[in-house]
Amino acid sequence: MTRRPLVAGNWKMNGHRAASAELDALIAAGRPDADVLLCPPFTLVASFAERASGSHVAIGGQDCHAAASGAHTGDISAEMLADAGASAVIVGHSERRADHGEDDSTVRAKAEAAWRAGLTAIVCVGETEAERDAGRTLAVVGAQLAGSVPDAASAANLVVAYEPVWAIGTGRTPVTSEIAEVHDALRASLASRFGADVADGVRLLYGGSVKPANAAEILALENVDGGLVGGASLKASDFLGIIAAA
Ligand code: 13P
Repeated sequence: MTRRPLVAGNWKMNGHRAASAELDALIAAGRPDADVLLCPPFTLVASFAERASGSHVAIGGQDCHAAASGAHTGDISAEMLADAGASAVIVGHSERRADHGEDDSTVRAKAEAAWRAGLTAIVCVGETEAERDAGRTLAVVGAQLAGSVPDAASAANLVVAYEPVWAIGTGRTPVTSEIAEVHDALRASLASRFGADVADGVRLLYGGSVKPANAAEILALENVDGGLVGGASLKASDFLGIIAAA
């Protein structure tokens, strides 16, 4: 099975309207041999989706509420993201889990909401440094995967991102054998729950301090099908260097 690489940028709480110049640069760079997804803050989703319409760059959200609508001040539904032109949404990012107390069942409900709205769900998992030091990495990410991915997963509607919490924004990354160990385990766990066909098609992204200098080595791993990039996705020049490595 050949999985088409996916390089996704997560701008987190960064980006004003003037940052559309970075999107324009991604579009102008032409179609690479990878899918490219940019997840700007909610304020930019609609304008970026309009700008990227017809190009190879897809636009996604960084989170959604599990409900389609209702009295949830400050929240955004998956249906609203779809209406704004998004095709995917990140759910269960460790910053959401930590800052907003989201647990696996919340993340699972959000992934279901994404599918209800026709979006691809990018489900994030990852261990803390203390969990890695305690030798619990595979147990932690395995439990997160089991608890956060709904039963209706398919190769088309699910992407899984492995992001070690201690590697996010720190400039530190696991060594490639550590990344490979986790990704191999994630693939095996998807296969035992959903069968080989689904597991072979789901793209597994690595995230955490991916930059142009380390992207080629990480993205070359057999079960790494792309990257989820934070800081290095903010500047098109850096992000393009990562996309070129995919
Ligand atoms: P950095 O690439 O800035 O480490 O962030 C990774 C991340 O959290 C992407 O979702």
